[in-house]
Amino acid sequence: MAKRIIHKSYGKALEVLELEQYEAPEPKQGEILIKLAYANINPSDMGMIGGSYKHLRDLPATAGREGVGIIETVGSDVPSKFKPGQLVKIPSDTPAWQSHFICDPESLYTIPEGIEAEQAATAFINPPTALLLLKDIVTLNQGDWVIQNAGNSAVGTWVIQIAKALGLHTISLVRREELIEPLKQMGADIVLLDDDEYPKQLKELTKGQKPKLALNSIGGQSVSRLIKSMANGGTCVTFGGMVGDPVRFPTRYLIFNDIHLCGFHLDTLLRTKPQEYIESLYNEVFDFIKSDHIHTPIEKVYALEDFSVAIEHFSGPRFGKILLRP
Ligand SMILES: NC(=O)c1ccc[n+]([C@@H]2O[C@H](COP(=O)([O-])OP(=O)(O)OC[C@H]3O[C@@H](n4cnc5c(N)ncnc54)[C@H](OP(=O)(O)O)[C@@H]3O)[C@@H](O)[C@H]2O)c1
Repeated sequence: MAKRIIHKSYGKALEVLELEQYEAPEPKQGEILIKLAYANINPSDMGMIGGSYKHLRDLPATAGREGVGIIETVGSDVPSKFKPGQLVKIPSDTPAWQSHFICDPESLYTIPEGIEAEQAATAFINPPTALLLLKDIVTLNQGDWVIQNAGNSAVGTWVIQIAKALGLHTISLVRREELIEPLKQMGADIVLLDDDEYPKQLKELTKGQKPKLALNSIGGQSVSRLIKSMANGGTCVTFGGMVGDPVRFPTRYLIFNDIHLCGFHLDTLLRTKPQEYIESLYNEVFDFIKSDHIHTPIEKVYALEDFSVAIEHFSGPRFGKILLRP
């Protein structure tokens, strides 16, 4: 039997999600059967299950946006480059929290050789976001500073590691003292608690240099502190709202320091791009994994049927992603 995590209404994940068993599908002519290896749990999954995300699935829906699987059976007339045993990305619009998938080979991205399946399962949302935030919002040169909140998030750890590989410096804000050392081990230059004190300490720590780019995935007062720490003419990009509060900005910094505010949404951007752009973005992520040993911390892996415990763990303090496996 195959298994999937479904919801029949939008709401809080722990209240609306349920496990459904169904007969494992057989691939028809031109189709491929894939078995889940690992699926990731991302904050946007909660938005999709809750009904607040931009792109929602029709109900009843299977949950999950990101994962990888192994080709199990190949139907007739499938191009010979697809073979059983290959590790592939679960296509973007296919719900990831299920054990079996029938896919059209045209939409399949094959994971490059030598990549661990757990890392591959976390490679398609947060790493490309970190990459594009660093490369596409403002022009950064070696030695420039970038500041971010949620430094221990998957995006945050990728920002730290890519920035180091590109010769940029990072200031990362976190909510817990015990995260400071592990982030420094990953290559972070400065890691501080996200409180009202840190903007005053930065001048000395960066020898007067200020960030041109601020990355906000929290909102509320946290973004206000980022803006106060920035260089004149800098850009603060909001790409997440973990705290649920509106983005607060100190008006005088927008006026007197010419700070620019903008937003970023990978999903919306990729829907406008051709497949070659998307594949080359993924290839760039895998090149970073291979050449610079960049990785996403993984906190724990749970079986699909233990999704409730996994989501409870996901919702509490942690350092790394929570994955689901069949
Ligand atoms: N716009 C886009 O295209 C895009 C793409 C990818 C991700 N995102 C967004 O980027 C953010 C990070 O995603 P992720 O998958 O990297 O996250 P993650 O690895 O799941 O980590 C979540 C982070 O959010 C922090 N956090 C949770 N609740 C918080 C609260 N109430 N106040 C302050 N901080 C809180 C956590 O800090 P603690 O460890 O202290 O709890 C942790 O740093 C999310 O907002 C996500 O939606 C946006």
